Amino acid sequence: MATGPLVGAIDQGTSSSRFLVFNPKTAEIIVQHQVEILQKLPQAGWAEEDPREILRSVFECVEKACEKLKQQKIDVSNVKAIGVSNQRETTILWDKKTGQPLYNAILWLDLRTQSTVEKLINNAPNKDKNVLQEKTGLPISTYFSAVKLRWLLDNVEKVRKAVADGRAMFGTVDSWLIWCLTGAHEGGVHCTDVTNASRTMLFNIHTLKWDPELCQFFDIPMSILPEVRSSSEIYGLMRCGSLAQVPISGYHSENVIALTFACYLYQCLGDQHAALVGQMCFQPGQSKNTYGTGCFLLSNTGEKPIISKHGLLTTLAYKLGKNNPAIYALEGSVAIGGALVRWLRDNLHIITSAEEVEKLAASVGSSHGCYFVPAFSGLYAPYWDTTARGIICGITQYTNRNHIAFAALEAVAFQTRELLEAMNKESGINQSSLQVDGGMTANKIMMQLQSDILCIPVVKPAMAETTALGAAMAAGSADGVGVWSLSPDDLSAVVWETFEPQIDPAESNQRFAKWKLAVEKSRGWEN
Ligand code: G3P
Repeated sequence: MATGPLVGAIDQGTSSSRFLVFNPKTAEIIVQHQVEILQKLPQAGWAEEDPREILRSVFECVEKACEKLKQQKIDVSNVKAIGVSNQRETTILWDKKTGQPLYNAILWLDLRTQSTVEKLINNAPNKDKNVLQEKTGLPISTYFSAVKLRWLLDNVEKVRKAVADGRAMFGTVDSWLIWCLTGAHEGGVHCTDVTNASRTMLFNIHTLKWDPELCQFFDIPMSILPEVRSSSEIYGLMRCGSLAQVPISGYHSENVIALTFACYLYQCLGDQHAALVGQMCFQPGQSKNTYGTGCFLLSNTGEKPIISKHGLLTTLAYKLGKNNPAIYALEGSVAIGGALVRWLRDNLHIITSAEEVEKLAASVGSSHGCYFVPAFSGLYAPYWDTTARGIICGITQYTNRNHIAFAALEAVAFQTRELLEAMNKESGINQSSLQVDGGMTANKIMMQLQSDILCIPVVKPAMAETTALGAAMAAGSADGVGVWSLSPDDLSAVVWETFEPQIDPAESNQRFAKWKLAVEKSRGWEN
């Protein structure tokens, strides 16, 4: 079948990898494929993934999506550009000679650096966790890459040796994927974009450069850092493609020379930033909340970085082209959103599929006083408290798994209300509705609950894959590709679904007050 140009998007998230192919004229998904990623939890609080598995899962998605294109009689050569959106902060070190990772990827929500973080804060003037906030926009926290990198240097001999020998390369997941896909040790491009760099705590969000003082603060050698580029430009050519004949026992660097797609181009954006683009939040004040593994509320603040007084992060929103200005955002992040549903499935075994949670919650329609604070990785925004741990409270003999399922969904809604309240305080404007996207938005009970808890309408685009869409838009509009114009008109046909509050705000406030009480009980568990 003849088609016009198409644009692909690799969406490498914490829980799964995906590859989607879009028609840039209609923003419609032509094909997609998704593979879940195995998380390794070797100790309480530790969370890792195998970088080779991340890479393999991406290959698999690309291959399967290409097969689906062929089944529809669409030539894969119609795909003119590929964008990458990725889980952010997750830290990977690899050997540039062998192409092999030096350790598992340490996930963004990993807590192993808690004592390092406490030490750094205790040594800071006034024990202020915001001592680096002016430069980085971030509080010192286990969340960001610098402390994970420090841990690797302190604890892994192989890492120390590779750094000393000049063989180590650092990257967040975007850098790892781009390096591998553009040739690995055969000339792979070692780069990242400003949005991902802004999550490391080593990047100066004003100069848009790695900052020698920050690197000195964490004692990180600058030689291992990737080159920082804009979020929308050609990074390199895809050097790998059909690996169907190759055993998947391990990423093998020779494989990357098999040239199937020699003309693909790249862009990258941290996944939450990609969703902001995909939701067309190009004007200051426009916001979106994405329900992925965690929950991330980003609000565009234009060309001006605003340093938060209410526990939000200041981050690069995007820089769509070398010569375009950097746009900033305020971000409220919570670590556990969709991950809580996965936990109900994999740890508590009270559901067998993520979709089942909706049925359970709907069967009771209330938690009957049960509150679940999923502080598995401490509390992120607006608390930034590494001592918190998860609790379920308010349990009676009446409580059953349905109430726990409801409390889990309600916890995600309460956490989002905390973010929105912080955002409203910061801007001095109460948002009158919330734009949402991400996997959990398919859950209608969840969306209704969210609107009830926020007391404002929640609106979601019928096409909820806005993260991948944003990555595809940025890739398709890169200089030299030009198959996607970033005009709001492109999405004028988007169909929105609206959820209006159905409960009295007094009831919502009462439940929220109880939630706050539960949050206080979750704090100070692990010092
Ligand atoms: O900061 C972490 C975030 O990028 C993870 O996103 O989609 O895996 O929840 P997701």
